Amino acid sequence: MLELDDLHVGYGRTTVVHGATVHVPEGGITAVMGHNGAGKTTLLRAAVGLLAPSRGRVLLDGDDVTRLRPHRRVRRGLAYVPQGQQSFPQLTTAENLQLVADTRPRGRARTDELLDLFPALREVMSRKAGLLSGGQRQQLAIARALITEPRVLILDEPTEGIQPSVVAQIERTIADLTSGDDLSVLLVEQHIGFALSVADRYYVLASGRVTSSGDGGDDSHATVRAAMAI
Ligand SMILES: Nc1ncnc2c1ncn2[C@@H]1O[C@H](COP(=O)(O)OP(=O)(O)OP(=O)(O)O)[C@@H](O)[C@H]1O
Ligand SMILES: [Mg+2]
Repeated sequence: MLELDDLHVGYGRTTVVHGATVHVPEGGITAVMGHNGAGKTTLLRAAVGLLAPSRGRVLLDGDDVTRLRPHRRVRRGLAYVPQGQQSFPQLTTAENLQLVADTRPRGRARTDELLDLFPALREVMSRKAGLLSGGQRQQLAIARALITEPRVLILDEPTEGIQPSVVAQIERTIADLTSGDDLSVLLVEQHIGFALSVADRYYVLASGRVTSSGDGGDDSHATVRAAMAI
């Protein structure tokens, strides 16, 4: 579905990701884990088209999209929720959702479905996004991304700075979303427990290189902890 193939990416003359290969198959959740500064966000930016790799390719459904602009990738089914949950802080929850919904023929109906999935958002529809709690902001950001009915949803640290009960709720929602085969998730996470409890497969990134990869689930915890301790 989405293949990042031997990607080299950086800023100016500094290369941060040194030949990472990550495959996101159809359906299910693929997690990328790694410490602060490992290059996780940089890798995602290249996947979405916000950074151009100096080497390697990005493939979507087998097509080379390495040179395609971000909005064209979105049209082909990618959606990206950046780290830090950026919505428009001066606009209300409802307005933030409507902005995206208005760009889609099914936007309104889809928004209603998503509010059933994120009932907490119904309570804060008229509140400015800048005043929402971290968990509410994250749910708003994910809901906005889902209005576009993506086939691959890319989430950068959705649990950062969020209390455990809300983390559990986000975890359930992500698991529910991917229970069918029509949505794949590429999840970047530092919380190993959270990532491996939802992930079907994982990659560990260290200093811009994939140092470990495999299937998710209970058996993977020890391997991943060892890979991240290095
Ligand atoms: N815009 C930028 N210009 C220059 N260097 C950058 C830029 N953004 C990130 N870097 C550097 O690239 C490296 C990887 O950063 P990146 O944000 O990809 O890490 P990360 O794995 O997402 O970390 P975190 O878990 O803290 O979000 C870091 O050394 C960082 O300082
Ligand atoms: Mg990051």
